[in-house]
Amino acid sequence: MYIRLLISPITKAAYFRDYKGVVHAEFTEFFPDSPVAIFSENNLDWLETDIEEPDFTSLARLSFVQGIFRRDKTGLRVLSCDPRFSLTNEFVSGNKYQGKTNETVTQLAINLALHHNLSKSDKQLSLLDPMAGGGTTLLWGHRYGLETVGIDINKRALETLHRHVKKYTKIEKLRHTKSDGQTGHFTKKGVGKFILYEISDKKLKLVCGDSAHSPKLLSHQKFHLLVTDIPYGIQHRGADGKRSPLDNIIHCTPAWYESLKPGGAMAVIFNSYQPKRDVLVKAFEATGFKTTEFSSPHRMSESIVRDIAVFNRPHT
Ligand SMILES: C[S@@+](CC[C@H](N)C(=O)[O-])C[C@H]1O[C@@H](n2cnc3c(N)ncnc32)[C@H](O)[C@@H]1O
Repeated sequence: MYIRLLISPITKAAYFRDYKGVVHAEFTEFFPDSPVAIFSENNLDWLETDIEEPDFTSLARLSFVQGIFRRDKTGLRVLSCDPRFSLTNEFVSGNKYQGKTNETVTQLAINLALHHNLSKSDKQLSLLDPMAGGGTTLLWGHRYGLETVGIDINKRALETLHRHVKKYTKIEKLRHTKSDGQTGHFTKKGVGKFILYEISDKKLKLVCGDSAHSPKLLSHQKFHLLVTDIPYGIQHRGADGKRSPLDNIIHCTPAWYESLKPGGAMAVIFNSYQPKRDVLVKAFEATGFKTTEFSSPHRMSESIVRDIAVFNRPHT
């Protein structure tokens, strides 16, 4: 069956001139055996493919898809395009603040981690963002039906997330519970402070602390997925107050490995100028992670070429 996927204009805003390359990389990661053509027609961008028995939910969940059509001799026919997400798009996109990760690339990273997750299947999948900021990954993960937990060294992240959840749940008249507390001793920097929500029967939690201590901060809980956007060496600082993303990664990877279930997958969004991809991979592999082949570099600015690397924690 010839299927045409309408590429959302949001994709262009996320990846600029390289958007077609990223679309191609995501599609072929999920459907490696299907032929692909990406082209523009009547000012719209399309991906055309030929799939025997398409799974429309999986297609609709690709981060670039705005619509799904069937092409036959008579033209294009709209097909069902329901990604079956809970809550509305505003749950993720309504939260605006400086340093927020783009929503589309965050969705791509979650898709990749889900795709590469080889851990023992459990009914409820869990996701940790060990450098969560104001919680874009946590909010997206929640829409995917995942239990989500985040850690951030900056206690303001908790306020950012709370402001948004409070506003969203009020506007949507959404029943939820909120609790907060403290793991370990109280410190001036807020380490161990957390907020925990229960929204639509799923937990979403954000803890303040150094990601290198994730097992201790999270009572040694292990997750199916780790997804994060690490600092780009330009704005955010690491635990030591310095800007080197590599030192920060080397500092954190042993804890990330320990927080991932055997077989689980970790997707990392990073600036491939700092560190270069092979250096990042080496740091992860030194801890025991296995690297997958996925890569899709895209230029964001003069000093940022963003990419995503995906790793597995081997079963043994
Ligand atoms: C690129 S931002 C993530 C933004 C986030 N995805 C969002 O949309 O809000 C990187 C985050 O990592 C945090 N960070 C840096 N080093 C950390 C560490 N060692 N432990 C915990 N958080 C850290 C920074 O405070 C910053 O919020």
